[in-house]
This record gives sequence, C-alpha cells and structure tokens, in this order.
Amino acid sequence: MATQNTAYPITEHNYDVVVVGAGGAGLRATFGMAEKGLKTACLTKVFPTRSHTVAAQGGISAALGNMGDDDWRYHFYDTIKGSDWLGDQDAIAYMCEQAIPAIIELEHYGVPFSRTAEGKIYQRAFGGMTTEYGKGQAFRTCAAADRTGHAILHTLYQQSLKHRAEFFVEYFALDLVMDPTSGECLGVLAWNLDDGTLHLFRGHQTVLATGGYGRAYFSCTSAHTCTGDGNGMVMRAGLPLQDMEFVQFHPTGIYGAGCLITEGARGEGGYLTNGDGERFMERYAPNAKDLASRDVVSRSMTMEIRAGRGVGKKKDHIFLHLEHLGAEVIHQRLPGIAETARIFSGVDVLKEPIPVLPTVHYNMGGIPTNVHCEVVFPTNENPNNVVPGLMAIGEAACVSVHGANRLGSNSLLDLVVFGRAASIQAAKLVQPGTPHKKLPGDVLTPLIDRFDRLRNAAGAIPTAELRAEMQGIMQSDAAVFRTAEILTEGCQKISAMSAKFSDVLVRDRSLIWNSDLVETLELDNLRTQAVATMYTAENRTESRGAQAREDFPNRDDVNWMKHSLVLVDQSGKVQLGERPVTLTTEGFDVDPVPPKARTY
Ligand code: SIN
Repeated sequence: MATQNTAYPITEHNYDVVVVGAGGAGLRATFGMAEKGLKTACLTKVFPTRSHTVAAQGGISAALGNMGDDDWRYHFYDTIKGSDWLGDQDAIAYMCEQAIPAIIELEHYGVPFSRTAEGKIYQRAFGGMTTEYGKGQAFRTCAAADRTGHAILHTLYQQSLKHRAEFFVEYFALDLVMDPTSGECLGVLAWNLDDGTLHLFRGHQTVLATGGYGRAYFSCTSAHTCTGDGNGMVMRAGLPLQDMEFVQFHPTGIYGAGCLITEGARGEGGYLTNGDGERFMERYAPNAKDLASRDVVSRSMTMEIRAGRGVGKKKDHIFLHLEHLGAEVIHQRLPGIAETARIFSGVDVLKEPIPVLPTVHYNMGGIPTNVHCEVVFPTNENPNNVVPGLMAIGEAACVSVHGANRLGSNSLLDLVVFGRAASIQAAKLVQPGTPHKKLPGDVLTPLIDRFDRLRNAAGAIPTAELRAEMQGIMQSDAAVFRTAEILTEGCQKISAMSAKFSDVLVRDRSLIWNSDLVETLELDNLRTQAVATMYTAENRTESRGAQAREDFPNRDDVNWMKHSLVLVDQSGKVQLGERPVTLTTEGFDVDPVPPKARTY
C-alpha cells in the first residue's frame, strides 16, 4: 500500500516483527523469529555478510570445558569482575548459562569452528577468563581460526534464508515511528538507497540491532558503518541511553591504521614489550600479565608510553611479539592477523613485532533493556518500565552484561545469546498475523520533514569537516585517561561542534545512492552519542572499568554503583539520570558476587 501524505510517497510493509541491522545479533534474532513462525523483515544498510560482525576475530566465549575444566559459574564470576561490578548480575547469569546451548546450536547450524585433536570445538585463552574464580587460566573462547565473526555471520545469514526471513538490503533506517499517546513503537521509517524511495515497516516488535558508534572517534577498529544509528533514533524518540561513558579501547589496534589484532594473539602466547624491551605487563598484572582484562592492559600501555618507554621514533606505541609462536601456530590459528599485519604495518609476524596502540573498539553503553531484550524507559517509580513494541540487542543495547568493561569474546556471545533471547520473547509477545492498528494522525510528517531538511541542507560546513572535528575532540578529550579539566573542556567543545550541525552542507540533492546524505544522517546520529559520552564521563566522578579518572582514581561503590542515563535532544540539551545495578540472581543456580577490589 502506498501512502501519499507528503511529497515523498511511502510504501507500507506489514510484518509481525521488524529487525533493523544484520550483524550477528540482528541475524540471530531474524532467523530465530522466522523459525518461530513470525513474518520477519530484516532491514540493513549494508549487505548482511558485510556487517561489522564479519570483522570479529578471536572468538566467542562459552564454558564448554573442551580444553580443560570449566563451569559457566566461573564465566559468570569473570564477567562480573571484568564489568567492575557495573554489570547486571541477572543478565550476566543468563548470558553465561545460555552460552553453552547457544554455541552448541551454532555448531549444529554449521559454524565451521576450529577443532581439537578429538574433534571438539577448539577453545583458546582470552583476557580475564579464569577457572575457579580467578585461580587458573580458562580456555573458554571458541574460535574459527581468527575469523570467528566471519564464520558465524555467514552461517546465520544462511539460516535466515533457510527460514524465509525477508531482507531489505541497503535500506537506511531513518527513524522509529512512535505512538505519541501510548509511547508504543509502531515500526520504522527507512530509505531505500538503491532507488531513493521511502518505506514504512510496521512490526509488533521493532528490534534494533544497529551496533556501536565507534566512528565517533578518529581511531577505532570499527567499520565506517558503525555509527550507532539505532542509538541516535532512540534519542530522537525521546528515550535515554545508558552507561555511555564506558568506551573500550582494545590494546592491540595496529599503530597508525587502527585495524584490530585479535586478543587471541596474546591468547596463543603473544606478548607486549616497551621501548626497553621489557614485558611490562608483569609489573601491572603479576598473575594474568598480557591476559589481564582490556581496560587494564590498555591503561598499562598508555602509562608506559607516557613514561617515555614507548617504541618507535616518537616512542608513541608498543610492540606485540608473535615471532616465537612459529609458522604452524600462525598459519593454523592466526592466519588473518598475519595478513592484516603485513598489509597495514608491513610486518612479517614471523620475523618482527607488530607496532600496536590502544584503539577504540567497543561501546559498553547503549539502549537500556531488560534481560528479555525489551527496551526500558526508566522512570522514578519504575526503573524497569518497558517501552511497548521496541527491543534492542547486541552492541546497540545495554542489557547490561558488560558493565564498565567488556571481556574479550563476550561480545559475539552477547550477540548470539540475546539475539536468540529476543526471538524467544517476540514469539511470546506476538501472535502471527495480528493486524496493525491505524497509524495515529500525522506521526510520519516530522520524520519526513527531518529527512527533507537534511537532504536540502545548504549550510556552510561540509559533513566530512564537521565529522573530523567531532572525531578529533572525542579522541583527545574522551580518551583512555580522563580528568575534570579535560572533560569540562571536552563538553564545551563537543556541544559547540554538535550545534554547528544546523549549518551542515549537503551538496548532493539526489535520492539514489546519495552517500553525502547517508554520511550526514550518520553524523546526526553520531553527534548526539558523542555528546552523551562526554557529558556522562564528566559526570561520573570515579574510576571504574574503562572510565579511568586521574582525578578520581578509585572506584566509589557508595556513590557510583549505578548505571548512568543520558538523553541528548536535537538541540544538544543534555539530561542526566541514573538507574540501579541489579545485584541479584534470582532464578539462576549461582550466588551473586559481592563487590571487591579488582586485581589481575
Ligand atoms: C578480538 O578478537 O580481540 C576481538 C574480539 C572481541 O572484542 O571480543
């Protein structure tokens, strides 16, 4: 059916459920929902198998115990400690317990995992993953060489096609369609990049699986597509985001290029050295050493560089050594990173160390949800108030299983476990074939007006110039180490940058494959998230996980064991709030882990 209520004709599509995004979480939800008999649409701005999950290297965690003793409760403990006690313990229990069936399912769906000599799924060591509550090193990260995300993504796409989910490829989601009276999400408005048409997708549940916003920074491991479009849409719908101050720096991005060198490289025995040739991690984390959690390793590297002990002419990076691992390990277990290192740093990993630097890699914060993936809009009366019709999963969401710092290989797990959970919950909530209620009044007009305004934006500042300004501010002022002085200045700078968006210039007025307009829409999404990150980082006066405040070096559980909420409106106005952390594990066969000092 076509709606002719504006200059832009809109084609309407009716589905039981609509998934936005086709990375690991989006595809797991898509095929899970289709498998359960729901008529499922999946919209994606890139071809599904080009989604950023394809770049995930090292693996996916699950306490299978294929390579030694393990238990999901050890995994639960490690994840809480990794989160620096900001993760919700009910959600973490769910993820770690469900990891085991979720990975076995993946194996049965066809993921080509690497194998042990007995034919079991190969599992490697990763940072912060231990046995017996911190005593031993766990081998818990299931790997398909160093191309695990690639293997999972292709399998999930094949399963989605098998279950006849319908894909709308190269459709850019513009905005959520919300009922202004009930607050319910009714669907999503999207732009077909290929023919320039606008489309309204109605779903009884709209599932945001739109990934992180790494591209708010200058140097990141994320694809250019990682612009947090779902987070931007959520704030435009008047809903807050959670824990946006927590941005993970991966210790081993290639110096200069930012490309990821998997933590699996250290899991296989790689190690870091400073300019004195010292294995400095032994000083910072005497037990876990190079396999301490990522926030700890990234901070230690930064401290070595600041102390004048970096490597290279400018002493501004660190070396990662793999030479001693030998050709067989590299070719069998780490072939992808050998190629990446050669292409992006000119290094033969069998002969020389790789120059590396902590690089933005992951957003712990995002759209707050409950353990069933339903988006929540916390109120004073009810911190768990559900937004009807809206779900969020994967890096876009903040369940929160990662709290203040995510452990390596818990991201692919989060995608799969909560993509699956969303399909289970949607099947409970949605009766297949239920008709959609009439769209209230003029609900689409402001959404189309915004699109039209940006398409015709005739300001003075090209999108790329403004984006570069944002990325520079985030890189320098919301970095690994933070102080009040830098963050206060950062807030002023990022607000000023964001305000300049009203003067943005889009040169291409066409509707078909207008990449100028795509990048402008992405920048609109990014700028509010950048503001959210800077203001919440300034507001949280403690150090916890990835938030390292030099002026507040300790964790402050009395005042700060709480999630932060933030809503940035289009004018740049910032509203801050908070929400309690769940410290209970009712319904799970595991006791909560009380807070304690975090050492590795
Ligand atoms: C890596 O392989 O180091 C990245 C995987 C992750 O972030 O979990």
